[in-house]
Amino acid sequence: MKKIALYPGSFDPITNGHLDIIKRSLCLFDKVIIAVNNNSLKKFLFTAEERVEMIKDVLNYNYFSNVEVESFQGLLVHYAQRKEAKFLIRGLRALSDFEYEFQMDLMNRKLNPQIETVYLMTDQRYSYLSSSIVKEIAQLGGCTKNLVPSLVEKRLLEKFKDIS
Ligand code: COA
Repeated sequence: MKKIALYPGSFDPITNGHLDIIKRSLCLFDKVIIAVNNNSLKKFLFTAEERVEMIKDVLNYNYFSNVEVESFQGLLVHYAQRKEAKFLIRGLRALSDFEYEFQMDLMNRKLNPQIETVYLMTDQRYSYLSSSIVKEIAQLGGCTKNLVPSLVEKRLLEKFKDIS
């Protein structure tokens, strides 16, 4: 049976930290579905379509047969069930991630005990990285090179130029 995993997140935008987790996940699972959260509870800079498109471009999407990128709404466990994914992947950056991840893990397990979450420690180069911090740097005119892929760097500049 194929081992299918979901890597869920906001990816607003995708960073080099996310990319590192995706590449490592591909060595562990037969198929990885990057699930872009499109629930309206969080305010996003990029639309779901833009976030999906950026991830596909960064991954040179057509090159991989074992990656899928899609946005989803509603509960993650319901989406995982629809996609026949038995695993969720989450990255852990620092101790501060633990409490949030622990709560989500327990709740997801209560909602669907058949789905297991697998955690990957972030590469130490990205342990301080988050999408919010990247957006703040870009908005205030700082350099985001080496934090996000170059095409995302470009999209951030364009986005903030449009807004201002
Ligand atoms: N490298 C860089 N940054 C990373 C990272 C890594 N390896 N891992 C996490 N991050 C950052 C993200 O950039 C993001 O930063 P931001 O808050 O500045 O945007 C932050 O960590 C949060 O990560 P993310 O994975 O995007 O989590 P989220 O809280 O936005 O979304 C979902 C988590 C989508 C899994 C969760 O909200 C969900 O499941 N939603 C669906 C509804 C549902 O089922 N709810 C019940 C859950 S129990």
